[in-house]
Amino acid sequence: MRTKKILAAGIVFCMGIQLFCACGRSRPYETDKVYVGVAYYNQSDTFLNQLIACLKERLQEYGEECLETSILIREAAGSQRTQDDQVKELIDAGCNVLCVNLVDRADPSEIIDLARENDVPIIFFNREPVAEDMMQWERLYYVGAFADQSGIMQGELAVELIQSDPFVDRNRDGKIQYVILEGEAGHQDAIIRSENVVETLKNNDIEIEKLSNGIANWNRAQAQNQMLQMISQHRSKIELVLANNDDMALGAIDAYEKLNYTESALPVFLGIDGTDVGLEAVRDSRLAGTVYNDKEGQAEAMAELAVALVSGKGLEDIDFQDERYIYLPYAKVTKSTVDDFIKR
Ligand code: GAL
Ligand code: CA
Repeated sequence: MRTKKILAAGIVFCMGIQLFCACGRSRPYETDKVYVGVAYYNQSDTFLNQLIACLKERLQEYGEECLETSILIREAAGSQRTQDDQVKELIDAGCNVLCVNLVDRADPSEIIDLARENDVPIIFFNREPVAEDMMQWERLYYVGAFADQSGIMQGELAVELIQSDPFVDRNRDGKIQYVILEGEAGHQDAIIRSENVVETLKNNDIEIEKLSNGIANWNRAQAQNQMLQMISQHRSKIELVLANNDDMALGAIDAYEKLNYTESALPVFLGIDGTDVGLEAVRDSRLAGTVYNDKEGQAEAMAELAVALVSGKGLEDIDFQDERYIYLPYAKVTKSTVDDFIKR
């Protein structure tokens, strides 16, 4: 009887320890509920919608595992003023940590002031504030990805294709005639991707000739329009379409489809992101490849950081760069690897 009691007490004690350690940190105080306020620049953005869906899921899992979490989301329809108001609203609603995807990445001061006055830390994501603004207050963080790496990887995908398939150089002049579809002017990912993809082609001794470039603001319909204009100007001369993201690569394909081009007359298309529609297009060989923008990794980093900032625990386990930055790596996706990414 006595042994039984001791055994039972032992089991209860062990379960207690397990519960206590379930999140790798001791259980936070009851008041430490994590109310995450998310503000993002535009709800028409495919990649961001998927990233935020991942964040929601991750926070929910944290809620089930250890401490209560809730999330409130606002989109700014492309207006920084709207976003400033929304951040105020999120703080007034009781959010104790903010995830902000700035409309204008050079204009975060109003938001930073609001957050500082209320002592609510901010995790900026995807649209990186300039370094000086990140110095305005010590409770500012950034989660994103290495923009240069995505451009280099897209360039490497292009090099591999060009070297393995002589038909990419359709007119056999020894040069690859290309066009670029770019994201928003002033966005770190647009500028750096465009620079690095071209540099990578040159560094690998690929002779290239730029026919045209157009800004399509990450948007499929705008990219279709830009591409229609480029086709009317250059006709079948275009051999390679480099798009700063998948949606714009798909918009370019839409343009060729609209003009009823046959498959054999199409250029090669490359994107970046690996959104659901982007991965499908790689699987179906409409896109030659893409570069995976790790939304699951970014969402996990944001959720972990949000929980750590509110509970005051676990911050020391996070691997920051320059103390307050977290960058997730990209990965190349081709038809032979696409299934691994579709499963994520
Ligand atoms: C980029 C992404 C684009 C777009 C943009 C918005 O990282 O590749 O598709 O979502 O962010 O800021
Ligand atoms: Ca050529």
